[in-house]
Amino acid sequence: MKTILDLITEEVKQAFVEKGFDEKYGKVTISNRPDLCQYQCNGAMAAAKQYKTAPIKIAQPVVELLQANNKFKEVTAIMPGFINITVSDKFLADYINQMSNEENFGCEKEQNPKTIIIDYGGPNIAKPLHVGHMRSAIIGESIKRIMRFMGNKVIGDAHLGDWGTQMGLVIAGLRQRKPDLVYFDESYEGEYPKEAPFTITELEEIYPAASAYSKENPEFREEAKQITYLLQNGHRGYTAIWNHILEVSISDLKKVYGKLNVSFDLWKKESDAQPYIPDMVQYFKDNNYARISEGALVVDVKEENDTKEIPPCMILKSDGSALYNTTDLATIVERMKLFDPDRIIYIVDKRQELYFETVFRCARKTKLVNEDTELNFIGFGTMNGKDGKPFKTREGGVMRLEHLIKNVTDEVYRKIVENRNMNDEEAKEVAEKVGVAALKYGDLSNQVAKDYIFDVDRFTSFEGNTGPYILYTIVRIKSILSKYEEIGKKLPDNPVILPASSTYEQELMLELTKFNEALLSAYNETAPNRICQYIYDLANAFNGFYHDTKIIAEEDDKLQSSWIALISLVLNILLTCIDLIGMEAPERM
Ligand code: ARG
Repeated sequence: MKTILDLITEEVKQAFVEKGFDEKYGKVTISNRPDLCQYQCNGAMAAAKQYKTAPIKIAQPVVELLQANNKFKEVTAIMPGFINITVSDKFLADYINQMSNEENFGCEKEQNPKTIIIDYGGPNIAKPLHVGHMRSAIIGESIKRIMRFMGNKVIGDAHLGDWGTQMGLVIAGLRQRKPDLVYFDESYEGEYPKEAPFTITELEEIYPAASAYSKENPEFREEAKQITYLLQNGHRGYTAIWNHILEVSISDLKKVYGKLNVSFDLWKKESDAQPYIPDMVQYFKDNNYARISEGALVVDVKEENDTKEIPPCMILKSDGSALYNTTDLATIVERMKLFDPDRIIYIVDKRQELYFETVFRCARKTKLVNEDTELNFIGFGTMNGKDGKPFKTREGGVMRLEHLIKNVTDEVYRKIVENRNMNDEEAKEVAEKVGVAALKYGDLSNQVAKDYIFDVDRFTSFEGNTGPYILYTIVRIKSILSKYEEIGKKLPDNPVILPASSTYEQELMLELTKFNEALLSAYNETAPNRICQYIYDLANAFNGFYHDTKIIAEEDDKLQSSWIALISLVLNILLTCIDLIGMEAPERM
């Protein structure tokens, strides 16, 4: 289904052509003076230059034609040559009725669906999840849902960090605590226990302790390095521990991500890419893509027009060991082989932008990807505290994601118990949904690349541009719909939405028509904040209509059922949109 802007533009273009002007001047946009009109066309100004006449002399005849068109209620030419347009209520209602009958409310899917891999989350095994990983997870989840909604085949990959020196540190830390474990007995040849020799809580204590200890103790640091090396070369006992670490960490990660409504199709790990490294390195050498620089193997990725210094992409260190780069390149090899994607999107802290630029250039230059494979980096900003600095706990430490979620949920719970009449069990349940929505909406309503301030009070407010406000609006519509049923009424199978009978209703309809464009821009710009902006406007328009209209008391059945159909559409669109940003609505709140 065409967007309403396209439909109106078609009419206006035709009028330009009929009056002897080029159709390109007939482009219509949403009015930036909603007090005067709904849409506008500024093409007469540009056309005036081509036709060497005054803009108003072009606007005037076009307007006269449009005035005779029953799709429009009001069309006026304003000095120096603006065309102001308001569509007829029937045209608007027809569009809305069509939307409610079409799949995806008329938002057309991608004509050439793509296979897209989204690399997001990126948690590091054995380290607790912190807020930095939260942004990647919730932004990635939303982008995944949007891409899928548009008809693409999308594969979400958690890309776990399981290969760095942190693994050696954890294993060394464990040995320090429990030196008698059979994994550390080099002469042991039997099977290792199935049960992990630690819980997630212990595991999460080990890493920070070991990391701090290694900074003071060079010997311990060396030991951890040695263990990392042995692990990466298949040491039996360390590999067995590493498998335990993976298992314990992943089941914990799934729990926390589950709370956030985030899920992955793949739980691939950096280590999965390791088998691809030797062949890749050989291929770089054979094709003269790589050269030796101070003992290290590098690929030059500088380009002539660079305005900033782009360092070479290092493939192997002088001691022959692989790096973060190497793993990411080998992961590209693996992904091309397993999924042949048209596009890979990385959702990572924007401080890694230069790094990804280097990796992408290297992948292109060495032809690890096809010429038309898109590699996109979507860098997100930092979540800051009220002091404008990266968010910390009150004690100044890194806040664990679980605790952050709990803080927000507790605050919502407090508000519910204070202001609502709800039993404790339900209040807790509702607080979980609303709390997560508050957190996610607080994040996603910002442009991805921007830093933002974490503000529990604001995020959990039931008023303003917040998750709870959106959910509250949804709950309100649900409750009107159940009242309608309670008074014994039911919508007919194909309910018709009548032309608007008030300004508030007209405004609500206008907002509904913007769904198509909002989704397309969220999709084309990979920008979930576009959806947040849209549902905020839609919720406001709905609430304006709600306060102005006595829906349940209305005696005219036709009018009433038109309104019920209208608000059902609003509800369905809101539900679709919150699903796209990974939020869920409770039944009551
Ligand atoms: N584990 C990394 C980190 O915590 C993020 C991984 C991002 N994805 C990637 N393919 N490099 O910084």
